[in-house]
This record gives sequence, structure tokens and C-alpha cells, in this order.
Amino acid sequence: MKKVAVIGSISMDFVVTTNIIPNQGETVVGEAFQTFFGGKGANQAIALSRSELDVFMLGAVGNDSFGRSLIDNLKNNGINTEMIQTHDNVESGSAHIQIKDGDNRIIIVPSANDLISVEVVQSYREKLEQMDMVVLQNEMPMETIEYLIEFCSERQIAVLYNPAPAKEISERYLDKVTYLTPNEHEALLLFPNQSQEEMLRNYPNKLVITLGDQGAVFFDGEKQITVPAKKVDTVVDTTGAGDTFNGYFVKGILEGLSIEKSLALGNAASAIAIQTKGAQSGIPAYEKVAATV
Ligand code: RIB
Repeated sequence: MKKVAVIGSISMDFVVTTNIIPNQGETVVGEAFQTFFGGKGANQAIALSRSELDVFMLGAVGNDSFGRSLIDNLKNNGINTEMIQTHDNVESGSAHIQIKDGDNRIIIVPSANDLISVEVVQSYREKLEQMDMVVLQNEMPMETIEYLIEFCSERQIAVLYNPAPAKEISERYLDKVTYLTPNEHEALLLFPNQSQEEMLRNYPNKLVITLGDQGAVFFDGEKQITVPAKKVDTVVDTTGAGDTFNGYFVKGILEGLSIEKSLALGNAASAIAIQTKGAQSGIPAYEKVAATV
């Protein structure tokens, strides 16, 4: 089985479902409140694990009840948690989510996720060198992301970098990743003043721009290819859709599928995921996805 390390956030999601988003200074009455396991790193690790890959998570939680549950949840999903550190005197990461009409607004509080330092990552060098792919997102310190991109590039370990949420990073790091998967908003921050066509042409077979319910687009060296999203009757919760997409895209690539087919796999998985509430609850097993591609 191919080995993947996910390095990134592990958080609790505090989710309010509401029909009204309050204005500044206003109080409104919501419909429901629930907690879910989340964090972009953990969500991607779960998608990879449910896609039947061997998954290793590197991250950090606080020494609190959330931290313990977050680690147990990853273990229960078959993920190796030996590279997760538990820190005293800091709370576990959290995300505060409002859902209205199936779509979300999110405030993240990184807390322990900010302690994924270069030094911590360096201490797991030998383990990381055994990986077929390393998967990164932006909910950890930028210097750690930059270090990991250099580390993997020097050792020719494939890297998927999902630059979410949007943050600036020098193009010299983007040049070194194997796959780069921003959404349209994140792509504009990475490549200001460029049209989408220019961005894609500059990074053939590397840059995949996700387009929400329109699917995903890349440039294959000759032409731009859009892989359409699957139609869904009722969208319940889009939280974690991008993470599911990234996990299943990696699955396709590691199984030797073309980028186009891997994107179709990612789209199929995220279409299933958004029909259930909670970032991880709806992430499907491989068998279910394969039946719909
Ligand atoms: O991508 C979705 C995730 O982003 C949520 O689970 C939440 O934790 C935020 O980090």
C-alpha cells in the first residue's frame, strides 16, 4: 500500500446552523449547534485513509479533552498518529463555523496547530523519507510549509500543496511542489494580476484550480481541461469538500491514474461528502466512490 504523510491541522469544529447571519452588533437565534472533528489536515488524512492508503499524520493538539478525542478519532480511522505531539498549556485548534443554506463561513483559531515547528518536523525526517507523497495545507506556520517543500524537493518526494486558507508564499516554493490545488480565490492571491489561463499555462500538469460546483481545471501542456463536478440534488454542508477532493485526487495519482481521472475521483468523492453534515462524517469509503466515477 502506498504511504502518505499529511502534515497539518487537527481541530474541533464548532458548527452553528442558522437561517440568519448576524450583522455587527446584532444577536440572532440559530437552528442547531454540533461539534465535529475537523481541521484541514485531519480531514485530508481521513479522506486518504478511507481511500485505502497507508496514512501517517504529523500535527499537534493541546493536552485537553478535545486533543485526546481528536487523536482517538484519527486512530479509529486507521491513521498512524505517532507523529502527533500533545502540548501542555495550549488548547487544541478549533474552527467556528456558521452554516446557512448548505454553505459555510469559518473562523479558525490555530492554537496547538501553530506549534508544528520546523524543529518538530525535522525530528521525523527518517519517517518522512519513506513516504510516496506528502500532503500540506496552510493551517500551520508558513516557515514549516516552506521547509517541508524544500525537504521533499531535495529528496524527490512528491508533494501536494493545498494552499488553503489563502496565504502568500514565494513562487520559488510553488515551483518545487508536485501538485498545487488552490480554489479560485486562493489562486488569485498566489498569482495576482494573472488571468486563470495564464496561471494554468505557467504550471502545466501541476496547478489544479478547484471551481466549487463547476469541478476543477488544469492545463495538460497543450490544452486546458475542465473536469466537471457531479451534480448533487441537496447540498447539506460543503465543509471539508475541498479536503475530500484533495485526498481522493492523491489516491488517483498514487494508483497511477492520469490527472484527469484523478480529478474525476476527487470530484466524485466530494459530491458524496457534501450530502452529510460535518467535515469528516460524509467522507466516503473508496468502494462507494469507485461505484460512482
Ligand atoms: O476545510 C474544512 C476545515 O477547515 C474545517 O474542518 C475546519 O476545521 C477548517 O479548518
